[in-house]
Amino acid sequence: MLRFQQSCVFFTLILATVVHCENSKEKGKYEVIPIAGRFTHAEGPHWDHRSQKLYFVDIAEQKIRKLDPVTLRVESTFIANGPVGVAIPIADAPDQFVAGAGLDFVQVSWNGERNTTRSPIHVLATVDQNHQGNRWNDGKVDSAGRFWGGTIGPEENEVVIPNQATFYRIGKDFVPEVKLRPVTNSNGLAWNLQDDTFYYIDTPTLQIVAFDYEPISGTISNRRIAFDLKMNNITGYPDGMTIDTDGNLWIALYNGGGVIKVNPHTKSLLLFVELPVKKVTSVAFGGPLMDLLYVTTSSRGLTKEELNKEPYAGYVFVVKGLNVHGLIANTFEMGAVKP
Ligand SMILES: *[C@@H]1O[C@H](CO)[C@@H](O)[C@H](O)[C@H]1NC(C)=O
Ligand SMILES: *[C@@H]1O[C@H](CO)[C@@H](O)[C@H](O)[C@H]1NC(C)=O
Repeated sequence: MLRFQQSCVFFTLILATVVHCENSKEKGKYEVIPIAGRFTHAEGPHWDHRSQKLYFVDIAEQKIRKLDPVTLRVESTFIANGPVGVAIPIADAPDQFVAGAGLDFVQVSWNGERNTTRSPIHVLATVDQNHQGNRWNDGKVDSAGRFWGGTIGPEENEVVIPNQATFYRIGKDFVPEVKLRPVTNSNGLAWNLQDDTFYYIDTPTLQIVAFDYEPISGTISNRRIAFDLKMNNITGYPDGMTIDTDGNLWIALYNGGGVIKVNPHTKSLLLFVELPVKKVTSVAFGGPLMDLLYVTTSSRGLTKEELNKEPYAGYVFVVKGLNVHGLIANTFEMGAVKP
């Protein structure tokens, strides 16, 4: 377990629980606030800086959801192709997304203004056709507008059959290029501000690995371990990840009840942000100043008793007062030819 001296006070207000924490290692106060829910398995938060909205997916519900952080209203659209692992806006097209749904990489048209039971879909590519039990999982777009994302193997009771999945890059020709194979549960990814290092998580390895990154060709090389959860006695599985402008990584801990802040150069744990739920799935910085940490969580598979104990399981949270800034997320470049 983590060995910080940390004191947290959980206040239950009429509308929300606010958690005030003081951490002995990093001076300062931050607040953990549940802002919307409950969702089944919220994942893949993407702060859309253009519209100041938070997009995320609800995987098994096959939904892309949009949260307005001012009104706290949520709108959703259903994607018929299968479980939605990731959705990212397309550059210069406010009502267009690329998404990984089932094994399809699709273009989705949705203006986010209302709830729709079905959005117009165009399939751009299909992956893992010889692994029908797989599905798309987490992904992001690089500084050149190319999509990087991977699949997850068949799941049985939250255990994934190993080495069935692949991590891909998809550019404007929509041809999936294999980047890492095999992987088991392709998850969090991040590029640093300098755009010379790429960080990646294959969840069951319990590690965050770093690669040298060449941004023009989009190549990764020189794989090494940046942080090892097991060596640091950390409970839970590394899931979604983001990075701040100082180069520190923020990693959601599935079944670990929080988010860790890690220095990948010293391989040290800097902070544990405790949440009042166990299944923490992913993180993204957002807000007008890019200083708010949005955190998605899951209520998947929890019994009624467990849900009573964790009334905010499956909520989206915001963490305020961390005193760091994130990088604006990239959007997918379609190129000249739009199908
Ligand atoms: C969409 O659905 C959500 C959840 O039912 C609801 O809160 C919201 O008001 C709906 N939005 C619109 C524009 O009808
Ligand atoms: C992890 O736990 C082991 C056994 O209790 C201990 O020897 C080791 O120092 C711990 N490592 C860290 C980084 O806390």
